Amino acid sequence: MTSIPTIAPTTDLPVALPDGDGSTAPRPTVYIETYGCQMNVADSELMYGRLQASGYTPVDVPDGADVILVNTCAIRENAETRVIGRLGELRRFMKRDTIVGVTGCMAQRLGPRVLEQAKHVSIVVGPDGYRALPALLDGARRGEKFTATDFDLEEHYEDVVARRFEGVKAWIPVQRGCDYRCTYCIVPTTRGPERSRKLPDVVREVQQVVEQGLTEVVLLGQTVNSYHDGAHDFADLLRAVGAVDGLRRLRYTSPHPNDFSDRVVEAMATTPAVCEHVHLPMQSGSTAMLKRMLRRYTREDYLACVERLRAAIPGLAITTDIIVGFPAETDEEFADTLDLCRTVRFDDAFMFKFSPREGTPATRMPPEWTIPDDVVAARFDHLVQTVRGISREKNLARLGDRCEVLVEKVARDGELLQARSRDFRTVMVPADAARIGDYLTVQLTGTTGATFTGTPVTAAESDATDTVRPAPRAQLPTL
Ligand code: SAH
Ligand code: SF4
Ligand code: F3S
Repeated sequence: MTSIPTIAPTTDLPVALPDGDGSTAPRPTVYIETYGCQMNVADSELMYGRLQASGYTPVDVPDGADVILVNTCAIRENAETRVIGRLGELRRFMKRDTIVGVTGCMAQRLGPRVLEQAKHVSIVVGPDGYRALPALLDGARRGEKFTATDFDLEEHYEDVVARRFEGVKAWIPVQRGCDYRCTYCIVPTTRGPERSRKLPDVVREVQQVVEQGLTEVVLLGQTVNSYHDGAHDFADLLRAVGAVDGLRRLRYTSPHPNDFSDRVVEAMATTPAVCEHVHLPMQSGSTAMLKRMLRRYTREDYLACVERLRAAIPGLAITTDIIVGFPAETDEEFADTLDLCRTVRFDDAFMFKFSPREGTPATRMPPEWTIPDDVVAARFDHLVQTVRGISREKNLARLGDRCEVLVEKVARDGELLQARSRDFRTVMVPADAARIGDYLTVQLTGTTGATFTGTPVTAAESDATDTVRPAPRAQLPTL
């Protein structure tokens, strides 16, 4: 096994088959399977881009691919268990000379342990090592095995052109890593320290995707609103990206409540492209619990942040992340979480049972703090019911409203199209697949409680009662 200690980002490593050299040699195929968050989706697009530029052809099934990469997540134990199961399954798609690689957060966390546990894996590459993929694959073809898990704080893959698969929106990483140290979280270990791309580089990429016909971008970072490139903060970034001609929707995920400076809130409120939705992870509604989690805000701080955002951005939808069963969670602390959910009235939430992650501070908490599985399960169910009940009520109240949706894709049922409102509601629309990428005005006619069905209204009707495209928001007196 060879370990690659440092791969300088500027090194021009030999590649498998140069693109466009007139060679008639068959291009090897590469299949990437992606787990985890949007950052991983964006990284897979970068990996495809890097490999395509080196002579590979992306394919969308593993069957018979020359290279199979599994881009992994380590956030909870079940995310890793799934990948381990899947790695075993992928064996049956392998040809004699197929190379299998494991990339992403689990690769970073486990490093050479992956090679020991899965003998059919040849390369293990962490999030900062993707530039070296062509060279690593060349080595693997010669029978070598590699682990490349060094962090590279300069690496933003600036010169790599992402190969995007989403037809209507683009994921744009603007920050990598995380400098918070929430006690449950593996991300600082798997992604390293926080660093931001330069604002002009982000703007250039946004201009490129808009030129390619995409009209929505989602800026990505673990605490994206702490973005700072040395000269510009996240407020500057929102304004600069929002000013790109032809961009209609600007979203970002995930912000940290502590990084919503007045400047950022004001930029959000006064940049018309910024959508009326924020995903604002709460984690817990108990100040004592938030302290154990090292979230660095109190229940009151969180609520104040929500209120500032709502005052600045009328019609703002708020979604969140919540963990139940973190060590020493008392009935009262859990009740505080339910209570804050009822106070804020989230539009939706991702809810998780706490999963201990090797090496995180939470695993060093006293063992007697562990919450029994049955208690966690009961709290989890209670939370899900509470959150779903609130979003159902909010969604029922929206029936009859009109809104602008962007048609994203054919829905899973294969008949309706799946579209999204600016405030992040999912709306199923009966329309021809040719409308994917279009903006439609729809009337919300039904809801499952979570998603809507909508009927497109005619242009003339929508002109008469257009509640849709919000006029550019004015300067806000509340700030
Ligand atoms: N950077 C983002 C979160 C990224 S991880 C932020 O700080 O908001 C996405 C979510 O996974 C977290 O918000 C948290 O709710 C959940 N999560 C992270 N680690 C977890 C763990 N060990 N167990 C259960 N849920 C966890
Ligand atoms: Fe994890 Fe906390 Fe960083 Fe989010 S802010 S990635 S939860 S350490
Ligand atoms: Fe998972 Fe890594 Fe994202 S741990 S959630 S893929 S940053």
